[in-house]
Amino acid sequence: MADELQTRTDTTLADIAAAPDGEALEALRVAALGKKGWVSALLKTLGGMTPEQRQSEGPKIQAVRAAVADAIAARKAAIDAAELDARLANETLDLTLPAPETPRGSVHPVSQVMDELAEIFADLGFAVKTGPEIEDDWHNFTALNMAESHPARAMHDTFYFPDTDAEGRKMLLRTHTSPVQIRSMMAEGAPIRIIAPGRVYRSDSDATHTPMFHQIEGLVIDRDIHLGHLKWTLETFLKAFFETDDIVLRLRPSYFPFTEPSVEVDVGFAVNDAGKRTLGGSGDAPGHGWMELLGSGMVNRRVIEFAGLDADKYQGFAFGVGVDRLAMLKYGMDDLRAFFDGDNRWLAHYGFNPLAQPTLSAGVGERA
Ligand code: PHE
Repeated sequence: MADELQTRTDTTLADIAAAPDGEALEALRVAALGKKGWVSALLKTLGGMTPEQRQSEGPKIQAVRAAVADAIAARKAAIDAAELDARLANETLDLTLPAPETPRGSVHPVSQVMDELAEIFADLGFAVKTGPEIEDDWHNFTALNMAESHPARAMHDTFYFPDTDAEGRKMLLRTHTSPVQIRSMMAEGAPIRIIAPGRVYRSDSDATHTPMFHQIEGLVIDRDIHLGHLKWTLETFLKAFFETDDIVLRLRPSYFPFTEPSVEVDVGFAVNDAGKRTLGGSGDAPGHGWMELLGSGMVNRRVIEFAGLDADKYQGFAFGVGVDRLAMLKYGMDDLRAFFDGDNRWLAHYGFNPLAQPTLSAGVGERA
């Protein structure tokens, strides 16, 4: 009996010492110390013993229980320590791995170009103004010297609303940013130097026209402003925007009801071997051409009067340029429609880092 107990105890202690993991150890604990375990059964036999038997057997059985319990505790500590070591070994952080690709948004090229223009014109002392996209026909047409019967109104393919406003004015989606000229002059008087970026709408849709597109309006009203100021401003802006001094402008006589004289501005480009256009040089040189870039002119005195200013005292110039077109030229995109598809792959490719604000000192077009 004593030998049998010794053998069983030794086997159990050996099994405990060899238990590979917490689960195996728990099974051994249940088999020995659990309610129906063999050590528990032995302890129960003490109750049926004579006092003398109990005195001799009791300590032996208690010693077995203690030895098994101690062995289980020791093995459990060893297994836990090994598991922790293994986990720590697995969880090491390899700092030489490349940074994870975290999803992030990007700045749309149209927004980027507007930010670049705001930066460039801020340096020239221009403030940024905005006006409503839902306009009335007085601000969009009449005050810009396009009377109700003016043929130029028909050229704009205007989206009209069915209702008029409280003053009986026809409501429309503005067809250009020029109404901001009127709103700014009326609100602030003269002298004034502003740009007005924003969305404009025309009922027109093909590969190079979308019903909504973006313009930036420029307006300078002061004393003694002349065409030379306009040309210098446009040249300075375009050189800063395209980040090259090799920009040659051609001013062509044109017609807008709100400017007199009106000037269409072309920029010279060269065609490289791949057939791609690159800005720079005179468009008259062999292998070169002229590209229409923007409309401008000296503000018509009737417009200055409509805005409530003294046209004998003040004059100025204005220009309007397509932002989408500028973006396509600078960043080499050839399909205007992709601008408005909201395709994340296109945005990931052509978008700009939202944390890299354009600055003149760092270069306005840094993709960073
Ligand atoms: N508003 C004109 C257009 O949309 C552009 C322009 C603006 C022309 C200012 C002259 C002066 O075509």
